[in-house]
Formats: sequence, structure tokens, C-alpha cells
Amino acid sequence: MRGASARYDFAGRVIAITGAAGDLGRATASRLAGDGAALVLLDLAEEPLRAFARELETDGASHLALSCDVTDGDAVDAAVSAAAERFGRIDGLFNSAGYQGAFAPVDTYPLDDFERVLAVNVTGVFLVLRAVSAHMRSAGGGAIVNAASHAGVRGPPNMIAYAASKFAVVGMTQTAARDLAPHGVRVNAVSPALIGPGVMWERQVRLQAATGTHYFDPEPDAAGRAMIAGVPLGRLGTPDEVAQVVAFLLSDASGYITGFNVEITGGI
Ligand SMILES: NC(=O)c1ccc[n+]([C@@H]2O[C@H](COP(=O)([O-])OP(=O)(O)OC[C@H]3O[C@@H](n4cnc5c(N)ncnc54)[C@H](O)[C@@H]3O)[C@@H](O)[C@H]2O)c1
Repeated sequence: MRGASARYDFAGRVIAITGAAGDLGRATASRLAGDGAALVLLDLAEEPLRAFARELETDGASHLALSCDVTDGDAVDAAVSAAAERFGRIDGLFNSAGYQGAFAPVDTYPLDDFERVLAVNVTGVFLVLRAVSAHMRSAGGGAIVNAASHAGVRGPPNMIAYAASKFAVVGMTQTAARDLAPHGVRVNAVSPALIGPGVMWERQVRLQAATGTHYFDPEPDAAGRAMIAGVPLGRLGTPDEVAQVVAFLLSDASGYITGFNVEITGGI
């Protein structure tokens, strides 16, 4: 049933979210705040982060918003320590900061973009995972969800850096789940595809159409319609449909699930 929505109890829980100013970060933060969580919001984009934090304030949610570049290990460690000091604990993490990169076939893909995608999506996920799990481990437990992608299950055309990075996120999720299981920390991943409306969906349609490759119509609206036609459920997923799964994986309702990658793809 579309629109049905389970709720989980996050009262007294502290959840950190990277990429918190993004579409999936905001949807997840809003949902968790509504379920009683205190939030640590991290993002590189200061102004959108501040604007979103003001919205949460209006709703009375307890939160700490910090500008942080996840590719900078010292900045990540400092932000996570500041959060642990402010709230005394971190119970959950949604590692959502991400960058799609350029869209081009492998033979012309730009190296600088390849390196940037890996820095944000691989090194960034690792640095945050490392800093937060150290706190969780000493506190005796926690739950982590990494944002992977359907591109980390099957590589899409024109996205070699993004595919490499998201396969890496799935691998890091499996290893971290094994490393942290003895310490009561669960680690899972979500792999969405075709979620909209949102920045990534619109950017992907526009830039795939512009690649001139035979997979995509050069006219963006037609390219977008064809992508949606390939989804068995016949529509885009919504950011809240991703947030619901993240909330489940961060909640005690998923207490026996770790090392798993949940595909949220409408059946692709
Ligand atoms: N939206 C989708 O369709 C979709 C599909 C599959 C996977 N994902 C993944 O889900 C995650 C969230 O996606 P989204 O739709 O919210 O994207 P988005 O572009 O709306 O948000 C990403 C956020 O990450 C932040 N960010 C980028 N680089 C950063 C850095 N170095 N340090 C800190 N923050 C940084 C951006 O400022 C932005 O606010 C990403 O990892 C993305 O790859 C999204």
C-alpha cells in the first residue's frame, strides 16, 4: 500500500546524519525528529544546512547542526567529538553525504571528478564510520546505515566513478558489520534508485540526456520518462520511502539485521 508508514520510537536516541541538507538527509532527519530523536546534522553546504536547522527549530526538534567536510578526517573527528560532548552519546548514524560526479563514458571520464567522487563517497563514508563507531563501541552499541545506491549493485552507463564508489560502500558495510558486531553495533546499507523529486534525480536526467550515448534520449523529459518506464512499479520512489527504511534499520525493530544492503528501487 503506497503511503503506509510505520513509526519507530527514537525518544532519547541521538542520531547523526551526514549530507543532512540533502534530499534524503532532510527526509530522514524530519522523520526521526518526529519520532523523538535528537539530531546531529552534518553537511558541507552551510547555508542549506542552516536553513534546514531553522525549520527543525520551529518544530521544536533537539539538534546540533555543524558544517563539516566528510573528506577531512580532522574535521570529521572534531564534529563527532562535539556531538558526543553535547548529547553524551551517539546511538545512530545515517552516512548520507554523497556526490554523483560527472556523466561520461569510461574512455572520456575526467580523473579529477573520479577522485572527487571517491573522496566523498568512499573516504568520507569511511572517516565518519570510523569516528562514530569508535564512540558507539565504547558506549556498548549503536546502529549505522550507509547510503549506497543501485549503482553499487549493477553499474549504470556513464557513471564509472559513482559505481566504483557505491560498490565500495556495500563492501565497507559488510566489513564494518563484521568488525563491529562483537561490540553491539549493527551496520547496514540502503541502495535507492530513481528517487524524486530531488537534486540527484533531476541532475541525473539532465546529464545522462546530454551524454549523447544510445542509452538515453537527448531530450531530458523523454530520457526521464524512459527511465521511469524501466521501473517495474512504474514510478519514482520518494525521499520519505527511503527515510522509512533508514528509520527501520536504525531502530530496534531491525535488531537482528546487520551487514545487509536493502535495495529501494521499485523492483529494478
Ligand atoms: N536521491 C537518489 O536518487 C539517490 C539514489 C541512490 C543513492 N543515493 C545516495 O543517497 C545519498 C543522499 O542522496 P541525496 O538524494 O540526499 O543527494 P543530495 O545531493 O540531495 O544531498 C547530498 C548532500 O551531501 C552533501 N555533501 C556533498 N559532499 C559533501 C562533503 N564532502 N562533506 C559533507 N557533505 C557533503 C551535499 O552538500 C548535499 O547536501 C547520497 O550518498 C547518494 O549517492 C541517492
